Amino acid sequence: LAKAEVELASIPEGKNVIIKWRGKPVFIRHRTQDEIDEARSTDWKTLRDPESDEARAKKPEWLVMLGVCTHLGCVPIGEAGDYGGWFCPCHGSHYDISGRIRKGPAPLNLEVPQYDFNEAEGKLVI
Ligand code: FES
Repeated sequence: LAKAEVELASIPEGKNVIIKWRGKPVFIRHRTQDEIDEARSTDWKTLRDPESDEARAKKPEWLVMLGVCTHLGCVPIGEAGDYGGWFCPCHGSHYDISGRIRKGPAPLNLEVPQYDFNEAEGKLVI
């Protein structure tokens, strides 16, 4: 299966990058400490699709998700919406800085694909 590799040093803190993988957009965000604190302090058990940030991000500073809205598949916009994460303009779904659905019609959090870090080369491998 095709793998995608991303040089992590090329993504500054506080920035999003979108790559294409198996025909789908993948969002990679280099989160700031404030964003990590917010994502980890959220009372996730009360969310529509309850998932802790710890379960979604292997390393807190890197958030990796499919850029496909779980409502009807549009591509959400980064750094937008009411929860500091992503906003899907198609029907108004708001995702937080962990990619969890917080408001709008989408039923599930943005999906986290399988990925690994190649520490020696400073790369993310999807
Ligand atoms: Fe995203 Fe409908 S496809 S809100």
